[in-house]
Parts: sequence; C-alpha cells; structure tokens
Amino acid sequence: MLSEQSAVVTGGAQGIGLATSRLLLQSGAKVAIFDLSKDKLSTTCDELKREFGTDRVLSFHCDVTDEEQVVKGFALTKETFGSVDILVNNAGITSPKEWKKTLLINLHAPMFASYTAMEYMKGSSKAVIVNVASMAGFCAIPGNESYSASKSGLIAFTRSMAQSTEGIRFNCICPSYTDTPLLGEPGKELDSTLSFIIEKQGGLLKPEQVSEGIVRLITDASLNGQVLKLTPRKGFHFEKYDSFMESLEKL
Ligand SMILES: NC(=O)c1ccc[n+]([C@@H]2O[C@H](COP(=O)([O-])OP(=O)(O)OC[C@H]3O[C@@H](n4cnc5c(N)ncnc54)[C@H](O)[C@@H]3O)[C@@H](O)[C@H]2O)c1
Repeated sequence: MLSEQSAVVTGGAQGIGLATSRLLLQSGAKVAIFDLSKDKLSTTCDELKREFGTDRVLSFHCDVTDEEQVVKGFALTKETFGSVDILVNNAGITSPKEWKKTLLINLHAPMFASYTAMEYMKGSSKAVIVNVASMAGFCAIPGNESYSASKSGLIAFTRSMAQSTEGIRFNCICPSYTDTPLLGEPGKELDSTLSFIIEKQGGLLKPEQVSEGIVRLITDASLNGQVLKLTPRKGFHFEKYDSFMESLEKL
C-alpha cells in the first residue's frame, strides 16, 4: 500500500509513535524515526530493523525543538531513502509545570518540522502530514492548560495548512487517553484526576488503535484538513466544521 514511500515519525521510539512506525513498515513504507531518547531509539530501531530489514529503518537521535538537528534529519532521510513523502508529528510531552517547553515540543516543533518537510515534499504526488493532537484540544483539561493549548493550536494549524497548501494533505488525530509511558511510569499508580478521566472515558485506548487512525489519514487520499477523534466509547469519528466561508458568514 505504501511501498516506495518514505515516512518520518517523530517520537517513534515508544508508545503511539512506535505503533505507527510498525504499521507504516507493515504497509510497505520506509521509516525514519526521530527521537530524543537515545537508548529507547536504539533498542526500537534494532528491533524494527530485524523485523523489516536494515534498509527500511533509519534511526535519528534528535530533539525536535532543535531546528538545526531537525533540518539535518530530513536531509539524511532524503539522502537515505530518496524522498520524504509522509510526516507524522507525534513527539509530545505533558508537563503542567513546564508550559513553555510543552508549547515548544507539542506545537512549535510540529510546525517547524512541517515547514521543513514541505521543502522535501515538493514534487511528491502523495505527500501528507499527520499531526498527533489530542482530545485535550477539545476538552480543556483543568490544571494542564499548556497541554490543552498546544493541542488546540495543533488542530488549528492542521486545518489552516490544509486550506492553504497545494499538493500536500494535512490531517490530525485526537485520541483520548491511551496506554503509553506518557501517562507515567508503568506499574506506578496514576494520579487521581487522571484515573477519574480514564474511568469517565471508558478505559484506555491501545496505541495500535491510534496508529490505525493515523495510517488511515495517510492512505485515504480523499482526506484533507480532517480532525479524526478516537475514544473508547465512540471509536473513530470526525469532528464536523463549517467551511472558512461558512464561518465568516456567522461572524
Ligand atoms: N498517551 C496518551 O494518553 C495520549 C493521548 C492523546 C494524544 N497523545 C499524544 O500522542 C503523542 C505520542 O504520545 P505517547 O503517549 O506515545 O507518548 P510517549 O511518552 O510514550 O512517547 C513520546 C515519544 O516522544 C519522544 N520525545 C519527547 N520529547 C521529544 C523531543 N523533544 N524530541 C524528540 N523526541 C521526543 C519520547 O522520547 C518518546 O519516545 C504525543 O503527541 C501525545 O501528546 C497521547
């Protein structure tokens, strides 16, 4: 399905990014993983190389907020795989006390990576960028305003780019809480607010469910500017928006 296509997945060493990298590889793509965690990146890429072949997996250690490194990562991906067709902006953190860092990683970095990727995507007929936002972009989380703000911003960025960028599709996915190390150390008790929200949403999603939605947003060429929500109770469902002109008429 995605043979001859090359993807960059940020934050692909674990969690949703790893599930997405694996599904992209299973779908025939070549995958470059950009991640900050040197050890996890190396373990994950060794495992994926054994499974899918050394020539289909590229490991790139970087901080997505370091623009110089990100530029180098895209150049290396192009040099290694011959093209950059797909970008999944997945790296993200939740850290209520570090609001500037949260905005840098969750919003500034995906925007910078998108603008950089677009330079390499010129001429690709299948170029697509998927941003991993969150239901927190809709349900403003009390006490985690930087996370909610970053994800609302990422949704708006995606929709705006989709209307203004010829030839490159932009979509985003908004999962609710998902069972990954982002929620805390495995085996450690979750804080009470988190446990309450998880119970309300009907349990945790699996990273493989989220990756299925991401790959759908990549492979279905009719989807552009779409915001795909995913929750345990409702499954996949698209948020419905007025068009730009319709929203102007309501001003
Ligand atoms: N887990 C959830 O409940 C949930 C729900 C909705 C959305 N999301 C979003 O999904 C995405 C992936 O989350 P996850 O749950 O898999 O998290 P995770 O913590 O399991 O994985 C995140 C990965 O990103 C990498 N990373 C973090 N900061 C980085 C940086 N500055 N540069 C490069 N790599 C960096 C980490 O090393 C890690 O490998 C995030 O954007 C997150 O906000 C997660």
